[in-house]
Amino acid sequence: MLIREETPADRAAVRLLIEAAFGGATFGCNGEAGLVERLREEQAVILSLVAEVDGEIAGHILFSRMWIEQPASSTPVVAPAVALAPVAVSPRLQRKGIGSSLIRAGLERLRQQQEDIVLVLGEPAYYTRFGFSVETARGLESPFPPDAFMGLELRAAPSREWTGLGNEKRKVRYPAAFGL
Ligand SMILES: CC(C)(COP(=O)(O)OP(=O)(O)OC[C@H]1O[C@@H](n2cnc3c(N)ncnc32)[C@H](O)[C@@H]1OP(=O)(O)O)[C@@H](O)C(=O)NCCC(=O)NCCS
Repeated sequence: MLIREETPADRAAVRLLIEAAFGGATFGCNGEAGLVERLREEQAVILSLVAEVDGEIAGHILFSRMWIEQPASSTPVVAPAVALAPVAVSPRLQRKGIGSSLIRAGLERLRQQQEDIVLVLGEPAYYTRFGFSVETARGLESPFPPDAFMGLELRAAPSREWTGLGNEKRKVRYPAAFGL
């Protein structure tokens, strides 16, 4: 398996892959092919990786720029964060480690790019194995159920700008493509 950055030539195959992967499953996530295309149009994509197996696109993961806002009563500060969505693996190749490899490779690249925090909506039984936790996202106000909204700190000493120091929760702002 080869994990590499997506190129424009991969886009048609990525779309087919996402449609196939999300055909029946939701897995607690609202990702889909249309979301990926809207994120590209909005230029919100910060990392898009594909997994190639025997020369075919077998998996895809996308990370986009989002923001965490200070409460309105405080000095205005907006801290950058990263949204993980969607991740998809070809149905016939699922449960062979491709999704995990894409997530780990993506997180490693984001760490190298000095990103602070990644947020994901999904199944905790899956995402906790990569270090995501609902506790990390607890100080954030989101439109999602708190038991499926998770965060992962990429740095040992993360910026306090997103964690929240007072009682007020910080709001998350997703790219418009999410339609939230
Ligand atoms: C979720 C997904 C990306 C995981 O990729 P993968 O390559 O199949 O997963 P991995 O082989 O790395 O990991 C396997 C583990 O994932 C978990 N898992 C995979 N698909 C799952 C599903 N639909 N429901 C619950 N758990 C699932 C299992 O716990 C499995 O663990 P096991 O090996 O102990 O059974 C892939 O199954 C997929 O594309 N699903 C459809 C689209 C989707 O729901 N995407 C996630 C939401 S954005």
